Amino acid sequence: MDAGPLSAEAVAAVRAGYAFDAPAIEMGALVNGEALADVPVRIPISMINRHGLVAGATGTGKTTTLQMFAEQLSAAGVPVFAADVKGDLSGIATPGEPSDRLRERSRGIGQPWVSTATPTEFFTLGGLGGGIPVRASVAGFGPVLLAKVLGLNATQESSLALVFHYARAAALPLIDLGDLRAVLTHLVSDAGKAELAGLGGLSKATAGVILRELITFADQGADVFFGEPAIDTADFLRVTADGRGVVSLLELPRVHDQPALFSTFLMWLLAELHRTLPEVGDVPAPKLVFFFDEAHLLFRDASKDFLTVVTQTVRLIRSKGVGVFFVTQTPKDVPGDVLAQLGSRVQHQLRAHTPDDARALKATVSTYPNSGYDLGDVLMTLPTGEAIVTVMNERGAPSPVAWTRLRAPQGAMAPTPPERIAAIVSSSTLRARYGAIARRESAHDLLAARTAAPAGAVTSDRGAPDPEPRRARTAPDTDRPSSSSPERRTAAGRTRRGSLARLIVEKLFGRVG
Ligand SMILES: Nc1ncnc2c1ncn2[C@@H]1O[C@H](COP(=O)(O)OP(=O)(O)O)[C@@H](O)[C@H]1O
Ligand SMILES: [Mg+2]
Repeated sequence: MDAGPLSAEAVAAVRAGYAFDAPAIEMGALVNGEALADVPVRIPISMINRHGLVAGATGTGKTTTLQMFAEQLSAAGVPVFAADVKGDLSGIATPGEPSDRLRERSRGIGQPWVSTATPTEFFTLGGLGGGIPVRASVAGFGPVLLAKVLGLNATQESSLALVFHYARAAALPLIDLGDLRAVLTHLVSDAGKAELAGLGGLSKATAGVILRELITFADQGADVFFGEPAIDTADFLRVTADGRGVVSLLELPRVHDQPALFSTFLMWLLAELHRTLPEVGDVPAPKLVFFFDEAHLLFRDASKDFLTVVTQTVRLIRSKGVGVFFVTQTPKDVPGDVLAQLGSRVQHQLRAHTPDDARALKATVSTYPNSGYDLGDVLMTLPTGEAIVTVMNERGAPSPVAWTRLRAPQGAMAPTPPERIAAIVSSSTLRARYGAIARRESAHDLLAARTAAPAGAVTSDRGAPDPEPRRARTAPDTDRPSSSSPERRTAAGRTRRGSLARLIVEKLFGRVG
């Protein structure tokens, strides 16, 4: 214990600081020169909805930490949703390979390591990849959120709301972006002149701006997300028959090329969860925990509106029993307002090659409570799989800062082979509901066809050729009650909530009539 850096007294404080009785995620053991198996570092499951951050340079163990967390949450019956940018997390579905090194490391930190596969469901946005396709209809997404992701100003936003209103009244279902483009094109065409005038408040110029934004948005790849059947977010909250939380992995292999797609989906998902989940206050275990690996992609070039929505949702979703963990290279990747709401911190090694890095390191150090560490030094020298940890303890106060050797995942650290992922997807009970991959391609073809003749698609006012046959094909269950009808959204906006809650509900779901 002499090895330091902590004194025997400080070690005792760490031991006491993590020795609560409540059910916990076992993160690992204190390192003080060597790992101390009898000084475990833990996070109470009841505090997971106070959110967290896992940060560190590339290759320092962030994704591995995330996987280990997700496995334990699942084992505790908590469903997990993780955005898996590089496919790094897929190993969670496969039992880990034992090795002498792994066993020795586990023994040293008091981890009873048992090779285990965790129940996993694979998803992809709009079916870009092999997983269950995740989609939302344009109508279900709603004009307010759509205006946010399109970066529309207030005038344009209310114009877009009018277009949605018109489409509903004219029985023109808005399913994908092509539907919305067709309606807008129609309204600004000669054929739609009278209806445009009747709408009162939508100018031809504004319709033109919205159209252009829609086209840019679709070009960024966001169009694949829109369609039916829309995903029911309840499907991310499942628990297996034997009581384990299902891990939903959203594969995002091309998110680098399509940041708009990712952030659009994310805003929608947070809004849906916020809208559909009841207030539960503080709960012994969260209803769902969200992990965003490579979260800097989420915030990079993000609009102010997007940041506002994320910040507010993170604040409000806690009382719905949802925990959010961001995984990034430095805490600076996360906006300050969000960072301030993250109760638990797992900081892997930071590098300080450039003056910018050095500033980031200094800023990180300054956010920690007092400790017996020279954090500026320790953070730069942490080995892979070790981190500086502080969590929210069972009373909601910060736990002692602890240099921790983290537990290893019990699933594979290498990706699950594509054949096995394909097998999991094809045996998924969700597959029948959300459609086969072959159907996606025909939806794409149809979209292209619509773009080629957008005005023709809706020339007559009321008797517009209805795209029903297509939806019937791609959506075997459209007659399930839509959980995202505009009526219900407006109703949600009128429930009695705190002023902040009202603000976000309004921002997300709007005052659309
Ligand atoms: N807790 C751990 N136990 C054992 N090995 C680990 C642990 N954390 C990281 N590693 C090793 O380090 C490698 C890189 O970790 P990874 O989580 O992919 O880093 P990052 O996400 O920060 O880039 C892993 O593939 C694994 O071999
Ligand atoms: Mg990683």
